[in-house]
Amino acid sequence: MTLTVLFCVDPLRPRRVDPHFAREAAAVRDHYGEIALVDHDALRRGDAEAALRAVPRDLGPVWYRGWMLTAGEYAAMAGLLKKRGTVLLTHPDDYRRAHELPGWHDTFAGLTPPSVWRPLSPGQDPGDLGELVRPLRGGPGVVKDYVKSRKHEWDEACFVPDMNDPARLRGVVVKMIALQDEFLAGGVVVREYERYVGDGEARVWWVDGEPALVGPHPDSPDVEPDPELAAVAPAVRALGCRFITTDLARRADGEWRVVEVGDGQVSDLPSTVDPMDLYAHLPVPD
Ligand SMILES: Nc1ncnc2c1ncn2[C@@H]1O[C@H](COP(=O)(O)OP(=O)(O)O)[C@@H](O)[C@H]1O
Ligand SMILES: [Mg+2]
Repeated sequence: MTLTVLFCVDPLRPRRVDPHFAREAAAVRDHYGEIALVDHDALRRGDAEAALRAVPRDLGPVWYRGWMLTAGEYAAMAGLLKKRGTVLLTHPDDYRRAHELPGWHDTFAGLTPPSVWRPLSPGQDPGDLGELVRPLRGGPGVVKDYVKSRKHEWDEACFVPDMNDPARLRGVVVKMIALQDEFLAGGVVVREYERYVGDGEARVWWVDGEPALVGPHPDSPDVEPDPELAAVAPAVRALGCRFITTDLARRADGEWRVVEVGDGQVSDLPSTVDPMDLYAHLPVPD
């Protein structure tokens, strides 16, 4: 059977792959696979029918590779594809588990900064945060939503110098919620801060519990990290998702820590990595 991948369409040229993924689509096509195009904008506005118009019926098992989707949007895509004889190799429950921090946090306990979270709708007041962070060690913290941080607005909307300062904690959380606006994913997460050293994170791509590609994180594309994976692999296997990424940073004491887990279908592949190094490892369904 062939490897089939659904890529996001170029919003400006509806018969082409989005330029951001063109290299990857070429790797799939040139070497052994087939591709089809999905309309990410249509998925985001809740129109799965329009989003999948260009996807032929009965493609069999497929992967998605494209821009991030909410767990709900991914489930809508999966549901409609299934009715048309095409099955996403990552089940919607597995997508949510890898994509949102509450889904993977406990499985990675001991390997990732301890974290607490509270579900919130966009724009909602976060409530009593003192109570929320009580399980955490006091001191500095990091704030994000279930999927993304405002790391580029570090001082106002991401980093909390002292979680015992309730006004500051609330200020950072409220700012993060305001900046995420309608894109706030799931709710608020507060994590214990850890000091990382080195030039950048490693992004490890895992397929069926095995490390398929160890590369740089997109924020530091020229770094060639060499993380220690022995402790991480059992947690990846325990999570049980077929295709995920883990972003690893070296803590000041030398330990490699899992900063973040992501679904491999929507994690960014830095342009310094040859896509074949990843796609050669994606299992072709039998
Ligand atoms: N608990 C933490 N301790 C120290 N630094 C952190 C922590 N969490 C995140 N960071 C820093 O903030 C960055 C962004 O956080 P991350 O969880 O990866 O969110 P995003 O999804 O926006 O990349 C990380 O790359 C790391 O440098
Ligand atoms: Mg990150």
